[in-house]
Amino acid sequence: MQDGRTTLSKFLIDTLDRQPCASTQGMAGLSALLIDVAAAIKSISAMLTKGALGGHYGSAQTVNTHGEEQKKLDVATNEIFVQQCEWDGLLAAMVSEEMEDVYAIPSGYPRGEYLLAFDPLDGSSNIDINGVVGSIFSVLRTRDPADSAATESADESANEAAFLRPGCEQVAAGYAVYGPSTMLVLSVGNGTHGFTLERDIGNFVLTHSNIRIPDDTAEFAINASNERFWEPPVRRYVQECKDGRSGCRARDFNMRWIASMVAEVHRILMRGGVFMYPRDSKTPAMEGRLRLLYEANPMSFLIEQAGGLAITGRERILDVRPHALHGRVPVILGSKNEVERIARYHGEYDRGEDKPFTSPLFGTRSLFLPDFTA
Ligand code: AHG
Ligand code: MN
Ligand code: MN
Repeated sequence: MQDGRTTLSKFLIDTLDRQPCASTQGMAGLSALLIDVAAAIKSISAMLTKGALGGHYGSAQTVNTHGEEQKKLDVATNEIFVQQCEWDGLLAAMVSEEMEDVYAIPSGYPRGEYLLAFDPLDGSSNIDINGVVGSIFSVLRTRDPADSAATESADESANEAAFLRPGCEQVAAGYAVYGPSTMLVLSVGNGTHGFTLERDIGNFVLTHSNIRIPDDTAEFAINASNERFWEPPVRRYVQECKDGRSGCRARDFNMRWIASMVAEVHRILMRGGVFMYPRDSKTPAMEGRLRLLYEANPMSFLIEQAGGLAITGRERILDVRPHALHGRVPVILGSKNEVERIARYHGEYDRGEDKPFTSPLFGTRSLFLPDFTA
């Protein structure tokens, strides 16, 4: 661009289409797909900006596949994603938090080689209070691109199994955060980059190139109302943070909770921190609160590409093998050294090496507390 700014289109063409390996890796079309996703995000941003005047507040009087009440905006934003992305010949199928089954591209449109999983509106409890919400998306390639081109109707590339692949196979992931400004943060595997929407012109402009998460932090995010349901290693970590300067961490920590994973992850990408929605015993049948395919995986991809870590507590999220489209997973992500510490606490607990922390004497600094600051 003449003014030296980099738009999303220029970034994607430079990064994907003009790379010598682009055609051999068969990444053709990925930039066009991401431009369509960005178009969906611009439409959603415009809709959200209208607020209560847009007529989209309140319940849709329906329930999604998770048994959660759908807001009108959950349904409307899902529809925007589908309409913006189904026609372009780049996708074989889509999966969304708001659709129970795989959405195969209708037979009237050409089929492509990519799979799109998305949460069209994250943090929807924030809608009616004019709080920050977001959208999250993940892109996979069908295993054999020839399959999707060869067949017209529902086939292997558009079924559930096609989506059940570990997050490390994602070819792109991103989110939009609808705050005072709308930002698109994405990665195609060469770092995590942030674009700010220039509303009057409609361009996403690269404003945060190659985001890096600080390795250390003194800020954590967790819904503390669930404390009684947490496992001991998470209780231990949070207790040590709360103990502050007089505890074994010997420093004061700060806590935040926005109830939108997008907003929490965005803060962590901007200034570091740890976000946790860990395994808990509140609903024993559920592995965690957040969904693997369209929440945990894309966010973990972005976090790792920015130098952070994302784990379940016991394994890397991007290595988790999904079992169901809407399967859930515990999530602990953010600044590397803190996430490593929490992983160590899980290991020590599983090996029975942290007995002092599960005893009633465990509290602030005391004779019973070993020194973990070393
Ligand atoms: P969604 O609005 O897509 O259902 O996701 C909300 C998720 C996540 O974004 C957030 O971190 C968490 O739910 C908030 O959960 P609590 O209501 O337990 O705080
Ligand atoms: Mn969500
Ligand atoms: Mn949602």
